Amino acid sequence: MCDIMCDKTGILLLSHGSKLIDGAEVINAYKDMYIKNNPEAIVEVGYMEIRQPDIPTAFENLKSKADLDKVIVVPVFIANGVHTKRDIPKILGLDVRMDEEDAHSHHDHGHEHHHGHHHHHKIESVDFDGEIILAEPLGVDERILGIIEDRINEVD
Ligand code: NI
Repeated sequence: MCDIMCDKTGILLLSHGSKLIDGAEVINAYKDMYIKNNPEAIVEVGYMEIRQPDIPTAFENLKSKADLDKVIVVPVFIANGVHTKRDIPKILGLDVRMDEEDAHSHHDHGHEHHHGHHHHHKIESVDFDGEIILAEPLGVDERILGIIEDRINEVD
């Protein structure tokens, strides 16, 4: 049983999360720009940690907008790391994409240190019956190189 309303896809733009507002302003601006280009899209923002809405809450926000059968989660991160390969898949109920030993060694030697605070993730899973697809991070792209070049040129 499927009418025209039941084939809906939600999009979750995922940012790391910070106590500072800057990252939230940027990811929300991308959300607004995406909706401007794709007026029919059902889009929410969520954060890996530190800031709300967290990922399960962002799913609730998406579900409140439409009866979704699919959610595409886009980590707006430059590259894969322990969050995109382990933590985010766990929260989404997907297969973890790195082995645990690797994950722990990386986390212990860099991640918590880099954040300057202790954050053991309270892994709370999303509540969603449909399909969840975790997209790739931004990666290597000439368009991002162009931004890097702009930033260099503007302080030169
Ligand atoms: Ni982190």
